Amino acid sequence: MGAMTGPGPWWSRAVFYQVYPRSFRDSNGDGVGDLDGVTAGLDYLADLGVDALWLNPVTVSPMADHGYDVADPRDIDPLFGSLEAMDRLIAAAHERGIRITMDLVPNHTSSAHPWFGTALAAGPGSQQRARYHFRDGTGPDGLHPPNNWISIFGGPAWTRIVEPDGTPGQWYLHLFDPEQPDLNWENPEVFEDLEKTLRFWLDRGVDGFRIDVAHGMSKPPDLPDMQIAENRLLADMDSDPRFNHEGVHEIHRNIRAVLDDYPDAVAVGEVWVYDNAAFAAYLRPDELHLGFNFRLVRAEFDADEIRDAIENSLAAVALQNATPTWTLSNHDVEREVTRYGGGPLGLARARAMALVMLALPGVVFVYNGEELGLPNVDLPDEVLQDPVWERSLYTERGRDGCRVPMPWSGDAPPFGFSTTADTWLPMPADWSSLTVEHELADPDSTLNFFRRALALRRERTAVAVGPVTGLSAEGGVLTVHTGGGLTCVLNAGERPVDLPAGEVLITSAALQEHSPSLRSPRPGRLPVDAAAWVV
Ligand code: NOJ
Repeated sequence: MGAMTGPGPWWSRAVFYQVYPRSFRDSNGDGVGDLDGVTAGLDYLADLGVDALWLNPVTVSPMADHGYDVADPRDIDPLFGSLEAMDRLIAAAHERGIRITMDLVPNHTSSAHPWFGTALAAGPGSQQRARYHFRDGTGPDGLHPPNNWISIFGGPAWTRIVEPDGTPGQWYLHLFDPEQPDLNWENPEVFEDLEKTLRFWLDRGVDGFRIDVAHGMSKPPDLPDMQIAENRLLADMDSDPRFNHEGVHEIHRNIRAVLDDYPDAVAVGEVWVYDNAAFAAYLRPDELHLGFNFRLVRAEFDADEIRDAIENSLAAVALQNATPTWTLSNHDVEREVTRYGGGPLGLARARAMALVMLALPGVVFVYNGEELGLPNVDLPDEVLQDPVWERSLYTERGRDGCRVPMPWSGDAPPFGFSTTADTWLPMPADWSSLTVEHELADPDSTLNFFRRALALRRERTAVAVGPVTGLSAEGGVLTVHTGGGLTCVLNAGERPVDLPAGEVLITSAALQEHSPSLRSPRPGRLPVDAAAWVV
């Protein structure tokens, strides 16, 4: 069992901190976070102990999907700053030994990308349309879409256009929002342009990329119908013709060939593929360095489920001797405090799960605000911005609740995030005990707990070193042994449990003392919903 982590590239044990730039820190008082805000937060991140940042998209975009609709991939959107602000961030991060990775969105562009405008104007059959997936409709007068694909955000994955002569025209494919037309990766111009983008940022000093929808891009040539599951989000991804089509691997090989010109650069792909062999195919030595594994995100707070998730993730990467990755949350999923039950219970469990994640060999992703123990926020209908809300005809609230700005200081919104209280999403009035300032002053805060755990992960050679030599779940208790001699115990059961003999490095909650008459050589007992590291 287990995967290698030994001396290797800089990213092989790295802790990546995911910055959602709209929500990290606002430097210019417009209520939206920006790049100079990230730069201003670098000392905080250095003290937290992260190795690298993953910035969600900051390139030019109409923001229909908050930057995942890119109109110019080689410039910074004015909302976030400028190329100079990006250069300042790269330089200041590197001064602190922090690497910078950016989001790359190769599956689609914005409908405001110049290519799409020229495609609309050029008409059917033109070279310009061949950069996207334009098709004639089916049925009388092409009234129906070319196939039955649905958009991930709800509704059909096709939109009909009006031709330049004013007549109802062709349809174009968008797996996401209509403002995100899918590119046609059969067209060599598409990769040529992506190569320019890769080199543009790498030459500016960026250390790598998170690749959006890395299992997308390539489409089967005949665009066959899909099977529509009742719950589209639980559809069987592995037989879904919209994703994980064989041709995607050549794209990754081409991307990798460019990255190999920059020996320290890393690419981590968003790969929503569950079959282990199919997932591992993305991690072949000439494809992605890393793939996000979402099994921990999907696991309940249940020892068996968590064990299975870890076992599976390790087994998948082992097929290619690749490095595992671990993540509990990101900008697309409900925050884990809320997923695990909310309130003090959810927070206790989230802290416990952080210790499990940080004990494991490989790469860890921490999503901004996770280190403060932020919960999801119930936002009123009128402030929701995620296109999912509208596209699902107001049946799914979307992802805004995990994207609320970070609280930094003070007793009332905007909690030092901005100078205006009119932040892009409202901040809950009761977050004063969750600010960075407040948590720094409290030794037991989630922030100080994360700082201690990250310091131990960095300094103690026993921590997060592979392989995983033992993994069990018994009576609700998960135990992980790693090659460095660390034992991580998670109590997801119903009563306190004894810890193994040894030095307790850290716990997510206070241990319960043994009665003095027992004179036990063992450490105290681990309460429920808590975890500990013992060496
Ligand atoms: C995955 C991103 O994480 C998500 O936020 C985005 O909406 C889709 N890809 C489309 O780009």
